[in-house]
Amino acid sequence: MRYDIITAGAADFAAAIPGLAQVLAASVANGAAVGFIPPLDLDAAAAFWHGQEGAVRSGEKQILLAVTQTGRIIGTVTLALAPQVNGTHRAEIAKMLVHPDARRQGVAASLLKRAEEVARSKGRRLLVLDTREGDDAERLYARLGWQSCGTIPDYALNGDGSSHTTHVMYRQLPAAPAGLTIEPASPDAQDAIPLIDALSADLAARFGSDGRGGLAGWDAVADRSLFALARLDGVPVGCGAVRPWEDGEVAEIKRMYAVPGSTGVGAAILSFLEDGARRLGYRRLLLETRWANDRAVSFYRRHGYRLVPNYGSYQGRAESACFGKIL
Ligand SMILES: CC(C)(COP(=O)(O)OP(=O)(O)OC[C@H]1O[C@@H](n2cnc3c(N)ncnc32)[C@H](O)[C@@H]1OP(=O)(O)O)[C@@H](O)C(=O)NCCC(=O)NCCS
Repeated sequence: MRYDIITAGAADFAAAIPGLAQVLAASVANGAAVGFIPPLDLDAAAAFWHGQEGAVRSGEKQILLAVTQTGRIIGTVTLALAPQVNGTHRAEIAKMLVHPDARRQGVAASLLKRAEEVARSKGRRLLVLDTREGDDAERLYARLGWQSCGTIPDYALNGDGSSHTTHVMYRQLPAAPAGLTIEPASPDAQDAIPLIDALSADLAARFGSDGRGGLAGWDAVADRSLFALARLDGVPVGCGAVRPWEDGEVAEIKRMYAVPGSTGVGAAILSFLEDGARRLGYRRLLLETRWANDRAVSFYRRHGYRLVPNYGSYQGRAESACFGKIL
C-alpha cells in the first residue's frame, strides 16, 4: 500500500474532516481509548474534528494525515504545540489513529516520524503523550524510542463504567544539526556527483570495492526508489538511497555517506530514507556493509538494524555484514 503523509493546512482541513471522522469512529468502535466512549457516530466524530479547526488555523495544532493514492485517509496524528511561554520547546502527541483495516503496515510509525520532523521544524524538542496501559500503541512508542514516566491508575473511563490505567511517555528528539536540509534528488544532480565520487574513492581505498553498482540501472527503478541529498547551509554533506530488492515489500539501502567530520548527518539521512521507504510501500530494509567498516556496523546497530543472513550476491562472502530492519 502506498500513501503520503501530509500536514493538513488550514485551507484543506475542512475537506479532510469526513475522512478523519471515519478513522476516529472506526477506531473508537474497535476499542481505542482516545477521549471517547463508544458508540461514537460519524456526526459526533466529525463534530470533534470541526472543533479542531481554530487550532489548525492558528497553527497550535498540526494535524498529519496518511492518505492513499486514491485519496482515502487511513491514519492521522495530531501534534499539539504547547502554548505556554515556558513550553515553546514542547509538544504533545494526540489522536494517533490508524483505521483498523490499515493497521500493522507501518502507517503509525510513519506518521510519528513525520510528526517528529514537524516538531523539530517548529523548534520543539520534547514530545509527551499518554496511552492506555497494554495497548498496541504502547509497544509502538517504545519501539520508536519513547521513554516511560510511569502509569496513572483510574485515568479514563471505559464504555462499561470501569476505568483504565494510562501510561505517560516522553521523547527527547535528537538534535539535527542546524542548517541541515535533506531532500530527494537525482543521483545525477550536479552537486551529488562529487559526493558519490568521494564515497566511491573512500570505499575503494579501504575495502577494494567502490560500491558504484549501488546506483546501476537507477532509471529503471526510479519510481520505487529514493535518492536523498543532505546539505549543510546549502553545501552537500551526505547522501543515501533506497531501491527495490527482489520482493515488492523489501528495499535496499545504498550509497549512505556523510562527509568525514560531520555529526548527525548520517542519522538524519537514514531517518529520511526510512520514512521515504515506508511511504513507497516498503516494509523492510536490507543493507550490506563490510565487517571491517566498524563505524558503519555500529551506526546501523545503533539505529535498530539487526544482523541478517547474507543475501543476494553477498551470500558466501565472509567480509560482508548484512543488516535488516522492519519499518
Ligand atoms: C496504535 C496504532 C496507531 C498503531 O497503528 P499501526 O499503523 O498498526 O502501527 P504500525 O503498523 O506502525 O505498528 C504496529 C505493529 O505492526 C507491526 N508492523 C509494522 N509494519 C508491519 C509489516 N509490514 N508487517 C508486519 N507487521 C508490521 C509493527 O512491528 C508493530 O508490531 P507490534 O505491535 O508487535 O509492536 C493503531 O493500532 C490504532 O489506531 N489504535 C487505536 C488508537 C490508539 O490506541 N491510539 C493511540 C492513542 S495514544
